Order: sequence, then structure tokens, then C-alpha cells
Amino acid sequence: MVKPVDNMSKDNIEELPGVGPATAEKLIEAGYNDLMAIAVESPRVLSDVAEIGEATAAKIINAAKSAADIGGFETGDLVLEKRKQIGRLTTSSKALDNLLGGGVETRSITEFFGEFGSGKTQLVHQLAVNTTRPLDEGGLDGDVIIIDTENSFRPERIIQMSEGKGIDPEEVLKRIKVARAYNTHHQMLLAEKALEMGEDDKVRLLVVDSLTSHFRAEYVGRGALAERQQTLNKHLHKLLRFADRFNAAIIVTNQVSANPDQFFGDPTKPIGGHILGHTATFRIYLRKSKKNKRIARLVDSPNLPDGEAVIVIKEEGIED
Ligand code: GTP
Ligand code: MG
Repeated sequence: MVKPVDNMSKDNIEELPGVGPATAEKLIEAGYNDLMAIAVESPRVLSDVAEIGEATAAKIINAAKSAADIGGFETGDLVLEKRKQIGRLTTSSKALDNLLGGGVETRSITEFFGEFGSGKTQLVHQLAVNTTRPLDEGGLDGDVIIIDTENSFRPERIIQMSEGKGIDPEEVLKRIKVARAYNTHHQMLLAEKALEMGEDDKVRLLVVDSLTSHFRAEYVGRGALAERQQTLNKHLHKLLRFADRFNAAIIVTNQVSANPDQFFGDPTKPIGGHILGHTATFRIYLRKSKKNKRIARLVDSPNLPDGEAVIVIKEEGIED
């Protein structure tokens, strides 16, 4: 299989006809750091970003299109063969696993969305622990990368959940790599770094908790919406690439707004709009119920019926 070109250096971009050092600089600055990102852009936007004429932008885009691996068509049997390699990661709740058709799928993005305290981060911790488990225990026998935007990762919870399963917490903690992301740009750079790390470590789960908080804070108001969606889209495609290359599961979290006046303010609607809706393969809406119970609802799955599962958050972790 031909590897797609990632993490283009300035030199690579400069090799595109019509791109000089100054243009390359501007493109990279604006986040166009791989051929694919340039290949799928419109001449108008690229000409704005790089401060070049539209004709030059179109020429650059065409060159990027021929240089980038845009993939090709596969026969149905090959797709089926690929789907057989898909791993399943247990959530530690049978009901939620069933809802997901047997657990969280690798090679996909699974989104947990819900209001504060609905259990998104707790599920992230549980899935991180479970990823390190052998396949016959519902794990992926792999390492975990967490991009943490809200400083919500707690090793103490990993210890409790590991002990809850009777496994050595030290071993589990060693296999989880966490990085704080301080803004959207940093968050996107960390996703690229993860792509590099995935080669050496056996990373089978990549988490972005929360996917959208920095985007919400930085792109405020209707005027910024298009740009926000475009940037978020780029970020998501990087995550998908990770999923595909390493046969890894991707978990992203997304808070719903409790304030009905806010844009996307419907409390049952996740922030992030349509792009996220179309990219995440599985979307789980979490809501609070009595005490430590949470209700998980599967929405918009391509091949599974919508339904609900009740989970419980305990000190030892997630249970039915
Ligand atoms: P935001 O990130 O604020 O949007 O919320 P979230 O959906 O990530 O919520 P999170 O997963 O952090 O859930 C927090 C809730 O989990 C708390 O309100 C507690 O109810 C529960 N919780 C956290 N730790 C424990 C624990 O050790 N024992 C029990 N029983 N519950 C816990
Ligand atoms: Mg959280």
C-alpha cells in the first residue's frame, strides 16, 4: 500500500510549482502542512490564505492533487476483508458494547457527547485502561494516546479502574501517554505528533478529550463558523488517517451546550455542527440519570439500529 504523504516539510511544499519560500511559510502557518490539505482546498480560499492570485492557487492545487495519494476505488470483497480486521474494544458495559455492535470499533471515530458530568471523561479513562488488555479480555493489547484539552486526565482514576479489574496499575499507566493541548493549533500539532508516535509504539487508541472546547473558545460568533468548521474538518481527517493507518480506535468527546441562546444551543445537539456529524462513525449521546446512572444513546449509525443502554459509574469504573 502506498503511504499517504504526511507532515510535509517546508521543502516538500516548496517543490510544488508556483510555491516559493514565502508562500510555503504562509501555507504551513495556516495549517496546510500536507499535500492532501492543499489538494482538497478551493483556489479562492488558498489564494486568500497564501496571498497569491487565484490562477496560481489553482495551479498549486492541481499539482498537489497529482502528488498526493488521493486513494482509489476498492472492490467490495476487499472492503469486507478490511472490515474483518476491525478490532473491538470493550467499554466494560455489556449493554453499551451491544449498542455499539460489540464494542468501540477500530478504524472509526467514536464520539461521546453530552453535558458536563455526563460521563464522557470517565468513559475515556475506562477505554484507556481496557485498550491495554489482551484481545480475549475485550482489549486491543495496545498503547493509548490522550490529547487532553481540559486538564481532565486523572491517573488516580486509572489506578482505581485498574485495581477494579485486578490488574497492575503501574503497567497500565506506563502504556498511556497524555499531552495537554493549550489551543486548537497545539491540539492539531499533537495529532500530527501522534501520527509519528504511532509508528514506534503500538498505539491502538487515540483520544481527544475534548475535541471541541478550544474550537468553541477560539472561533466565536457566526462570522468565525466557516473557518472553525474547516479547521475542525482538517483535524478530524488527521484523526481518521491515524485510525486507518494503525487500525486504531479514535474517541472524541464533545460537550452539548446547556445554554439555549448559544449557537448550536439545542441541549441535545452536539457542538461541532455537520462536519463532525458526518465524520464520526459512531455518536453516543450521554445523559445523566439517577445517582451514578447514565443513559447512552446511539445516534446516526451507518449499520446499527439506534437504541439506548444504561451504564453506571463506580469507583472501580464503568459497569452495567
Ligand atoms: P465535562 O468534561 O465537564 O463535559 O463532563 P464529562 O462528561 O467528561 O463528565 P465526567 O466523565 O468527568 O463525569 C464526572 C462524573 O463522574 C462525576 O460527576 C461523578 O458522578 C462521576 N465520577 C467521577 N469519579 C467517580 C468515582 O470515583 N466514583 C464514582 N462513583 N463516580 C465518579
Ligand atoms: Mg470531561
